[in-house]
Amino acid sequence: MADDTTFQRIASSTELEEGKGKPFELEGHRIALIRHQGEIYAIDDLCPHADASIAFGPVENGCIACPWHFAEFDLATGDVLSGPAARGIRTYAVREQGGEVEICLEKTRPTT
Ligand code: FES
Repeated sequence: MADDTTFQRIASSTELEEGKGKPFELEGHRIALIRHQGEIYAIDDLCPHADASIAFGPVENGCIACPWHFAEFDLATGDVLSGPAARGIRTYAVREQGGEVEICLEKTRPTT
């Protein structure tokens, strides 16, 4: 389990709308934060197919679709569910407390 000091603030809770993603940057990493069905997810904001910003894709049923060619990814695991992307997206541990959203850059789930 990650130590508290490894979580870093990335956004205010009020910046995230239900059912939508938004792009952020933290220490040179492009991160998409998505609020969906009461949870917040943090994934790399870079589609592995052709580098589109995933943050602007449609969100539905626990998945986000790339806005360019509609590859689908599982929000919780980052796994690719349909092409044309050939692999998944890295996800990050995320938490929300005191009106702030924090992520842990070290606590990731590798892509598959
Ligand atoms: S850039 Fe994402 S599916 Fe093509």
